[in-house]
Amino acid sequence: MKHEKIIILDFGSQYTQLIARRVRELNIYCEIHPYNKIPTLNADVKAVILSGSPFSVMDENCPIPNLDDIKGRFPLLGVCYGAQYLVKSNGGEVVPSKIREYGRANLSYIDVTSPLMIGVLNNSQVWMSHGDTISELPEGFNVIASTKDVKVAAYKIQEENTYAIQFHPEVYHSTDGKQILQNFLVDIAGCKQDWTPSSFVKDTVEELMNKIGEDKVVLGLSGGVDSTVAAVLLHKAIGENLYCIFVDNGLLRKDEFDSVLNQYQGMGLNVKGVDAKDRFYKVLSGVSDPEEKRKAIGNKFIDVFDDEANKIKDVIWLAQGTIYPDVIESISVSGGPSSTIKSHHNVGGLPDFMKLKIVEPLKTLFKDEVRRIGKSMGIDSELLARHPFPGPGLAIRILGDITPEKVRILQEVDYIFISSLRNNGLYNSVWQAGAIFLPIQSVGVMGDERTYENAVALRAVESTDGMTADWVHLPYDFLANVSNEIINKVKGINRVVYDISSKPPATIEWE
Ligand code: XMP
Repeated sequence: MKHEKIIILDFGSQYTQLIARRVRELNIYCEIHPYNKIPTLNADVKAVILSGSPFSVMDENCPIPNLDDIKGRFPLLGVCYGAQYLVKSNGGEVVPSKIREYGRANLSYIDVTSPLMIGVLNNSQVWMSHGDTISELPEGFNVIASTKDVKVAAYKIQEENTYAIQFHPEVYHSTDGKQILQNFLVDIAGCKQDWTPSSFVKDTVEELMNKIGEDKVVLGLSGGVDSTVAAVLLHKAIGENLYCIFVDNGLLRKDEFDSVLNQYQGMGLNVKGVDAKDRFYKVLSGVSDPEEKRKAIGNKFIDVFDDEANKIKDVIWLAQGTIYPDVIESISVSGGPSSTIKSHHNVGGLPDFMKLKIVEPLKTLFKDEVRRIGKSMGIDSELLARHPFPGPGLAIRILGDITPEKVRILQEVDYIFISSLRNNGLYNSVWQAGAIFLPIQSVGVMGDERTYENAVALRAVESTDGMTADWVHLPYDFLANVSNEIINKVKGINRVVYDISSKPPATIEWE
């Protein structure tokens, strides 16, 4: 069954993905598309939303969408830039606002008869973020909400199901934002709100069965949430024809390979564990540059995976746990391609020579949705709540060159830190945590002896998507105990420091 959907046309706003998340929280499926690549609008499409933008409608090179097949034909909601664009392109006026309208405001007038505003309370808080303001509406446009400073906070076009708002309903600071989106999507556009984890699983399993039939599929498991959920979905659809490969690259956390492999086998997955530690250590020997490490690990993974996949006869498909943020085409605000800060090499997958067809069952989902889908299929909640862990693993947490001995020491340190987080009920309030092996030695005393050993840094951050992050204010007592335990138990370490940098300007990983 094809699900009804909402199309969000993106003009480059930092909030576009947030609109999508709010729509989906209402159990309605939606897709983000660049404003200049509008997809075919077939019968599944129930409405269109125009996002905000860092551009002004007065900029010479501002985004101009072709709405000929949309405006007046589909229910349409313009947000911020979307609202200003509809005004400007229909003969109204948008001017730079005297004071930049940014932050909280309150609705001082609401047209209570407007279907968009039903249930929105007078004085409701809204979040403004724009440098321009609508000063004059075209004929046939009616104001349906105002604030003290912004007369046209929301409007409707007569005889059309077109609505627009200058504030952002998608951010939490807009208290009734979700109500407004629900009014638009459910009451105005008639969406059924039946896109749920179980409907997703049912539809996807059906689609996968049709697409793959009796073919064989190979999938690389990483121990992370995405590849695990992808594997379980595929397993539901094709059973033993799914061949999973889990590679020990020697850069995983302590005991992780065996415990995760056991867990996978317990879930009934057809999984082969491959011990390739030495192959990875060999190519990493003497390599200190972070990007060279990433490349060496990425290439070696392909070699190992290719060797294993070739042992499976007649495999046709390669499955990947790609998720939505990896595939959304983003609007470049600067006009050029965005620069690569770190090559997170696991996006993009394996090279063409494998000649396999690609299947990506999670590519329409955000991370939290992947977790919810996993939960609805009964995957262990501990596995689903695991912190993100980088593909190159401990290699980018050992500054400088890598040796098996450094890996072993770091595994011990990391183990103490992570188990202490768990034992103290702190693990789930942290987005990601780990230890970094520093390339310096310092003097210490142990008993009567002077030591000259290595230092480690501990890092714990809060984040929602890894794009920005704050260091976590872990309790001093906790840090004191962890530090003591590390120095007492891990031979080779005589100093522990805690990283108190946020991203930006720092990054989460040190390399
Ligand atoms: P940074 O260090 O860029 O990290 O702030 C952001 C998030 O990405 C993870 N990360 C990686 N993940 N391959 C990965 O699969 C990589 O090379 C890589 N480098 C960083 C990092 O752990 C954090 O979650």
